[in-house]
Formats: sequence, C-alpha cells, structure tokens
Amino acid sequence: MGKDVSKATTTFLFCDGGSCKKAKSEMAVREARAHLRNGGLWDKTHSIRTRCNGRCEDAPTWIVQPGNYWYKNVTPEKAVEIIDTHINENKHIDSYLLYKDGDEVMDSENERTVKPIVFKEKDDKDYGNALVARSPASDQFLYPLFKKLFETPSNIQVNFPNENQKIITQSHQVTYTDDFDIVVEGPETYLILAIGPITKVMENDVTQEIKDRKVGVAEVIWKQEDTDYIAHIRLKNRKGKFLVSLGIPKNNNTLWEYILSIYLSMDSKKPKIVLPVEQ
Ligand code: FES
Repeated sequence: MGKDVSKATTTFLFCDGGSCKKAKSEMAVREARAHLRNGGLWDKTHSIRTRCNGRCEDAPTWIVQPGNYWYKNVTPEKAVEIIDTHINENKHIDSYLLYKDGDEVMDSENERTVKPIVFKEKDDKDYGNALVARSPASDQFLYPLFKKLFETPSNIQVNFPNENQKIITQSHQVTYTDDFDIVVEGPETYLILAIGPITKVMENDVTQEIKDRKVGVAEVIWKQEDTDYIAHIRLKNRKGKFLVSLGIPKNNNTLWEYILSIYLSMDSKKPKIVLPVEQ
C-alpha cells in the first residue's frame, strides 16, 4: 500500500536534481529518512524527492511544508536538526533558511546574476545591417513561442533551408509530446525540430538525425527598416547549421510585443539596445 498521506502532517521535499546531487544531497536524504524511520516519525511525515527546485546555487535544497520553508545547503547534520525542529518544536531554523513565506527577499550567499538579453548592431550575413539578440533556445521558451506563432493565424513567414517559404494564415497544430521533437502541422506547413534537452549522459542514445535538427542557437534579428517583417527569429543547430527562420510581420504588433516582453524578457517600450562605441 502506498503512503497514507492523510496521516502526514509535515512534508519534506528533497531536491534530487543534478546540482543538488553533485552537492551530495543524497547523504542528507539518507540521514533524514533513517532519522524519520528510527524516530517513529515515518507515518506522520512524508518525504518526496523532487526534480530541480530552481535554486541550484543553494544546493542541496529542501522545502518543508506547511509553511513554505526553503532550506539551502542542507548537510546530513542540518537535515536531522531541521526535522527535529519542525516535528518536535513546530518551529523552523532561521539561519539555515533561504526563504519562508513573508520574507521580502531570499537569503542566499550564492546569488547568480543572469546576463540580460540585449540587441547589438551587426552586419548580419543574411540580413545585412540589423539589431541582433541571442535569444533563449531551450524548450521552456521555444514551446510557448511556437504555440504563440502557429496556433493562431499570424501571417508569419517560415523560411526553410531549401529557400522554400510559407506564410502562415491559418491555425496549425503544435505538438511537443516526444522526448525531443516539436511538430508543427497544418494546411500550410509541416515543421519538425528537436527542442528537448540532450544531456551528456543521453548523447550516445540519441540519433544523429535528432542531433542535426536540435535547436542550439536562437537569435532575433530586428530589421528596423524592413517594410514587411519587423524581425526574424533564426534557429540553428549546435554546429551552426541553419534550421529555419520565422519572419514576424510588421503589422502584427501583438506578436512583436510578445517576443520582446515574454520571449526576450525585455521592457517592450524600451528594448535593450547596445550600439557600438564611436572611436
Ligand atoms: S538541482 Fe536542486 S535546486 Fe536545482
């Protein structure tokens, strides 16, 4: 029989993602579970291994519920202390916390600064003088982007490597149920690209065909003086081979606004542009 969750009053969520594993999360989990079992706390608690909690810089991380207590840098010693404090005293340990409900900011010693995306003026080999931004190429961004571009008639222009072009005036179905491939199909085009992550461990099991169509580089090329298309999203594989480009019509303001604010995380009224410094 599975766990009777109706009896569990406290839940420990142990991060079991890659960074936490590297930071020896398993040692803390073993210690914690042994302590829960031998302390007679097994039935009134529940412990779950999770995928990455999104705070790899503070690995290993735990979340304790109720209360939304986020613990950072959990060691086997801290693990036992955290459990005892929550279960026996109904309290938390402030000095080990990354965050708890009500805190205005997180308490992390290892906060990483993420480089913002910016447009840079370039003489692009395909588009000439343009503003070019290196944009997100992971499935977390590309799947929503493709849904936005293809699921409603958007008049985008799809440019294939064989110079074939299609204009999307009707809704297309966007499917991302495979481990790697996203498929766009509809009355006007068919497109298949790999966007799912291929980690080092998987490398040998993934076919060359999938690797060849795996998006590794994404760029937004903003052609301010172009009359028909305000920008093109260009996708290449990891070796720099062109896969497809998607022209964003100048008159589709909603789409351009989406690309700036959601896909590129910029203020759409004031996109970040870096111009060359004059000598
Ligand atoms: S792997 Fe644990 S927070 Fe990312």
